[in-house]
Amino acid sequence: MKLGVNVDHVATLRQARGGRTPDPVEAARLCEKVGAHSIVMHLREDRRHIQDEDLFRAQKSLSIKLNLEMSIAPSVVKVARRLRPDQVTLVPEKRMERTTEGGLDLSRKKEALKRVIRGLEAKNVEVSLFIDPDARQIETAKALAAPAVEFHTGDYANAASAGAIQKELKRLDKAVRLAGEYGIKAHAGHGLDYHNVKAIRRIKGLEELNIGYSIVCRAVWVGWENAVQEMLDLIR
Ligand code: PXP
Repeated sequence: MKLGVNVDHVATLRQARGGRTPDPVEAARLCEKVGAHSIVMHLREDRRHIQDEDLFRAQKSLSIKLNLEMSIAPSVVKVARRLRPDQVTLVPEKRMERTTEGGLDLSRKKEALKRVIRGLEAKNVEVSLFIDPDARQIETAKALAAPAVEFHTGDYANAASAGAIQKELKRLDKAVRLAGEYGIKAHAGHGLDYHNVKAIRRIKGLEELNIGYSIVCRAVWVGWENAVQEMLDLIR
């Protein structure tokens, strides 16, 4: 199982004072150094953390995969087409949300999504769709010929009882299997931490986990490289 480290909140810290430090690209370089498999950066329309120039610097200085998370807003799609990252993960985005609250409802925006996916593929960018672990969404991802999906693990992360946790794990396991039957690569992320990741890593067929917030929090106590290393050790 591979680890993609989301460095958005390193940029959140930088933006708090509007300066140059801490630099999310330097954080990304250190992730690569300790063995992370990819870097995730979310370019939000409001540019609240990652800035356009962070993406272009990261693209230049990384050898591992750069996964650009974004909505299908035309201005952001334009940046992606210029950047041509290895991968784009399409997510829903609401201005007032603190973080991505749920997966895309693919059937509601099927035609627009199809245009964006095909446009990015023409630039050699692989597209992944961030969806809830629901059969209906996976069927639509298949109809859109998406090569990959990322399952939103927020419901699992927020589950409060042992029963609810088991229910969400079963839901994720079933979704990963269905994606596998359709030849769609399965990734997962959102709200994963050093405790709840242990059950997730046992799901067969999951190729990649994308984790950000918990790693940034852990880094406050043990340092950035150690925090990334600890997560890598857990999912290996
Ligand atoms: N994957 C996707 C698609 C996301 O939107 C996010 C949050 O930006 C993450 C993974 C990482 O979530 P977290 O920061 O909660 O680990």
